[in-house]
Amino acid sequence: MDFLNIAISKGRIGKEAYNLFKEVGIGDSINLNSRKLIFKDEENKISYIYVKSSDVLTYVENGVADLGIVGKDIILENEADVYEIFDLGLGKCKFVVAGIKEQHIYCKDQVLKVATKYPNIAKKYFDKKSKKIKLIKLSGSVELAPLVGLSDVIVDLVQTGNTLKANNLQIIEEMFDISTRLVCNRISYRFKYDIIANLIQLLKGREN
Ligand code: PRP
Repeated sequence: MDFLNIAISKGRIGKEAYNLFKEVGIGDSINLNSRKLIFKDEENKISYIYVKSSDVLTYVENGVADLGIVGKDIILENEADVYEIFDLGLGKCKFVVAGIKEQHIYCKDQVLKVATKYPNIAKKYFDKKSKKIKLIKLSGSVELAPLVGLSDVIVDLVQTGNTLKANNLQIIEEMFDISTRLVCNRISYRFKYDIIANLIQLLKGREN
């Protein structure tokens, strides 16, 4: 029997995916503390690859992974050619526009400097509002940008709100909610349909 190849990402989502797989009895081969990048579960015929969250879709799109566990933020930002088959209901957070407390620069009629890890999402959002912006692409620690004058606002994810609070920033606008999704390679969906359907049943079962 073929192995089912699943890409899980580093960081918070990876930990949640690991807990989820453990819960339904297929996560014992994964060890997030090791430096290994491939974990093989011979008994259940599953091979996990452990990759950067922004790369999960690349592995799935190219068929190296049949399935991937990834945030909706990454899916929206990258518009990859994969099936989004299941909302795992994990990693719930929201996209927001945030800025320095008590500063009202957002409302002024001028080009808004927006720092973000998600330029496509931010562009689409402000285009819809016909608001002129200058995008500043960052790779992390986005909250720093308004504090040091690199941007007026940020577009970023908020989960607990602790990072905003710690940096004296506030939500200016809530954009939309997101969560963690199971995505599937289009060809795998046809040729490995039965094992993929079984896995989905297993994951759905845990909710009942
Ligand atoms: C994410 C996000 C925020 C933070 C929000 O960053 O970009 O910075 O988490 O979480 P909170 O509301 O629970 O504080 P991440 O931890 O991925 O690190 P990064 O800054 O390196 O992108």
